[in-house]
Amino acid sequence: MWLGIDIGTGGSRALVVDESGVVRGSRTAVHEDMKMERPLWAEQRPENWWDAAKDAIRGALADARVAGERIRGIGLSGQMHGLVILDAGGSVIRPALIWCDQRSQAQVDAVNAKLGRENILRYIANPVLTGFTLPKLLWVRDHEPENFARVRHVLLPKDYVRLQLTGEYATEVSDASGTALFDVVHRRWSGEMMEGLGLDKSILPRCYESSEITGVVGAEAAAATGLNAGTPVVGGGGDQAASAVGNGIVRPGIVSCTLGTSGVVFAHMEKVAYDAGGRVHTFCHAVPGKWHVMGVTQGAGLSLQWFRNRLAPGESYDALTAEAATSPRGAQGLFWLPYLMGERTPHLDATARGGWIGLTNSHTRADLIRAVIEGVSYSQRDCLDIIEELGVEVNSVRASGGGARSPFWRGVLAGILDKRVVTLANQEGSAYGAALLALAGTGAYASVEEACAATIREIESVEPKGEDARYYRKAHAVYRALYPALKPLYGEMAEL
Ligand code: XUL
Repeated sequence: MWLGIDIGTGGSRALVVDESGVVRGSRTAVHEDMKMERPLWAEQRPENWWDAAKDAIRGALADARVAGERIRGIGLSGQMHGLVILDAGGSVIRPALIWCDQRSQAQVDAVNAKLGRENILRYIANPVLTGFTLPKLLWVRDHEPENFARVRHVLLPKDYVRLQLTGEYATEVSDASGTALFDVVHRRWSGEMMEGLGLDKSILPRCYESSEITGVVGAEAAAATGLNAGTPVVGGGGDQAASAVGNGIVRPGIVSCTLGTSGVVFAHMEKVAYDAGGRVHTFCHAVPGKWHVMGVTQGAGLSLQWFRNRLAPGESYDALTAEAATSPRGAQGLFWLPYLMGERTPHLDATARGGWIGLTNSHTRADLIRAVIEGVSYSQRDCLDIIEELGVEVNSVRASGGGARSPFWRGVLAGILDKRVVTLANQEGSAYGAALLALAGTGAYASVEEACAATIREIESVEPKGEDARYYRKAHAVYRALYPALKPLYGEMAEL
């Protein structure tokens, strides 16, 4: 048996998986709410992640009725980009600034001014974004110098849990890629970034490939979790890369589309390539020696959630998508812009705003909902187009996440992406991918690719209909013209 643990935002989840990839038991332990003391701030306590992880591990072992000594390996995954800072004794200095914390624009601007945007793209294959770890560290340096002076170790969220489990300060390439301190092309910490900014390299953890063993469970952690001391812990992956392993996105040709709160289009890359505009993230994959590229729609499932919470309280998503299915293709010429939280791909614009365009007196509520589903899908097509522009081959799309549970949405997605949309038997995502990395890393399979091939099964697929694809191609061109038309007004709207 193997264990996959995902340190998410809302909670930590542990899964017990057997050699053939069957889930034998699971448990989620919720986290404290993130603290949002000011509008752009988002913090969590690393100690709370560890408490939740311990509960989840114990719970999953109990659920699977498996004793700790039967666990042969552990993989970790987790929310990316968070800043955990520790002192010389390994104690947490202040709460973590997590992935969605956006307070660091001034630090991003300062890094760009100091090193130059083009150089940065060469050093780390990505632009520095406020969500990434580096500008958060610089925020602490600028605003809390007494805390900064005590920093001896910087870790990512799942790697704090690794430290508690194994005593090792370590990370792996996929999560390190989201720090803005990692040379994604050469798969090592970026000397240029650290030295260029006057940061001490000794604060960074040792970096492994994702399926390598990074340490073993220590005696204290064993007593606290029910695991056996000496159980190996592999690198694991950032939640997106780990989830991609869980979806089998480990070879060319298949991409995944995860319609959660945000929507992520994720593709495997054999050779590294990055977008000169920084509109998609190019990171190391959790498959040794491989990379991935991903585009993010900020307001995917969030768009439908917003509709339900504000305009259809108490109604189920199933009822809303059934209603949407009664509206004709194209929702009678109505468009939805999903920019409820600004946008990452393709616009990288925090000021972008959402809305319906094209309303007439004859539109119904079914049209409004259908337009939301189509608008989110157009945005995912925007992501896919950039990925294909980078030369990545795309034959089929594996859909997962809440939105993909709806057969209607999967059909719309197939038409708009103009690709075969496939669903998988196992929808466990990141924790499952982490478990597969442990299977591969402890020798149950010869490689991550083999572990995926042996365990992941497609169960259903929808082909795009020719007439849908033709219609949506024309409509997507209209959708794409809406953002540039509105862009000049977004700044003024924000100022009003
Ligand atoms: C990836 C990203 C999210 C977080 C939180 O770039 O921001 O996936 O890791 O889940």
